[in-house]
Amino acid sequence: MKVISVVGARPNFMKIAPLIQEMRQFSDIEHLLVHSGQHYDDRLSASFFGDLGLPKPDIQLQVGSGTHAWQTAEIMKRLEPVLIENKPDLLIVVGDVNSTMAASITAAKLLVPIAHIEAGLRSFDPTMPEEINRKVTDVLADFLFATEESAVQNLLKEGIPSDRIFLVGNVMIDSLLRYRSMARQSGVLADLGLWGEHGKPKPYGVLTLHRPSNVDDPSALGLILEAVSEVAMKVPIVFPVHPRTHERMKSFGYTHLLDSSRAKSADSGLISTNPLGYLDFLCLMDHARLVLTDSGGIQEETTVLGVPCLTLRENTERPVTLHEGTNQLIGLNPEKLVQASLKVLEGDFPKGRRPRLWDGHAAQRIVKILLDSWPARATKRSPSMA
Ligand code: UD1
Repeated sequence: MKVISVVGARPNFMKIAPLIQEMRQFSDIEHLLVHSGQHYDDRLSASFFGDLGLPKPDIQLQVGSGTHAWQTAEIMKRLEPVLIENKPDLLIVVGDVNSTMAASITAAKLLVPIAHIEAGLRSFDPTMPEEINRKVTDVLADFLFATEESAVQNLLKEGIPSDRIFLVGNVMIDSLLRYRSMARQSGVLADLGLWGEHGKPKPYGVLTLHRPSNVDDPSALGLILEAVSEVAMKVPIVFPVHPRTHERMKSFGYTHLLDSSRAKSADSGLISTNPLGYLDFLCLMDHARLVLTDSGGIQEETTVLGVPCLTLRENTERPVTLHEGTNQLIGLNPEKLVQASLKVLEGDFPKGRRPRLWDGHAAQRIVKILLDSWPARATKRSPSMA
C-alpha cells in the first residue's frame, strides 16, 4: 500500500506525526511525506519537525504565502505531477488548512482515494476559510476519521454514507500525551522569567491570536489587546505572536504593546515572544492558569491538560470541548473577556473530563481501519493516472 501524506501548516505537523510513527510499524505500507510549503518559517515548520521527530519531507512543493486562490491553485499545480509519478493507493490529509483542501481536490481528480483525519468538524461559519476547506475535503474523502460524535452527526446530516465515517479519537492528542513529559523539561518558563520560588511556576496566562476575523480588523484587534492588557495587570500574559498578527500589529501601530521587558520584571503585563516550538508551547500551556485563544487545536489541548481555555470566537467547530472540557466561548466582547478571565484566575472554571477515545491511540485505530479495509477499497477505486 503506497501512501502519500500532504502537510503544509503548523497545526498539521502534530497530527501527522503519530500516523507516520504508526505506519512505520507495517512493512507493507510505503509512505511518502509531501510538505506544501504553506508555512516555511523555521518557527512554524522546521522546529516542529525537530520536536516531533518527523522525517524530512520526501517532497517539498515550496509554495509559500499568497491569496487563498493563488495558494490553493499553486499547491494543486505542484502536487499533481507528484501524484501522477508516484501513483499512490491513498492520500492522507489532516485538519482544515488550504493545503488539506488543495491536496484533496488534486487527488480526487486523479481518482486517488483520500483519508481525511479530523473530518466532520463544523463551525457553521462560512466566513472562516477553514470551514470551506473542511466541507470540500469531506465531500471528496473516502475515509472520514472523526474526533468527536458531533462530527459524525454533521457528516451524516450532509449525506456522507455511514460506512465511510469512523469515530477514532484525536491524533493531536496522541502527540500531546506522547510528548507531555518531555515538554515538561523545556526551559521556556525560566527563559520567560516565569519560574517562581520553591520550584513552582508563577501564575501566568497565555494568549494566541491569528484568526483573520480577530487580527485583520484594527478595531477588533485593538479591543482584544486592550482587554487582555487589563487582565495582564493581574498576571503576566505570554503572547507568542503569529507572523500574520505581527504584521497586522505593525501596520495598525500596536507594536508598542510588544515591548515585554517591563512585563518580565514586574510580574504582570504582556510578555510577547516569537512563535514557540511544539514542546515549549506545550510546556507553557501545561502550567498556565488561563489560556486565551482563537485557535481550534488549543481548545482541544487545554481540555486534555485540564487548563481553563477562553475562546475569543463566537463559535467553535469543537463543541465537545465546551460540553465535556475546560473551554468557554467568550466571543469578541472585551468586558466579557476581562470578567471571565478574572473568574478563571479565582479558580472558577469548568474542570471538564477527557472526551471519549482521546486516549493516545487514535493513530493506531486509523491505520488498522485502513489496512483492514484496504483490498475492498482498492478494487472499488483504483487510481487512474492517465
Ligand atoms: C493558517 C491556516 C489556519 C491555521 C494557521 C496556523 C489556512 C486558510 N489557514 O493560517 O487554519 O490555524 O495556519 O498557523 O490554511 N507567514 C509567515 N511565515 C510563514 C507562513 C506565513 O510569515 O511561514 C505570514 C505571511 O505573511 C502570510 C501570513 O503569515 O501571508 C498568513 O499565512 P497563511 O498560511 O496564509 O495563513 P495563517 O494565518 O498562518
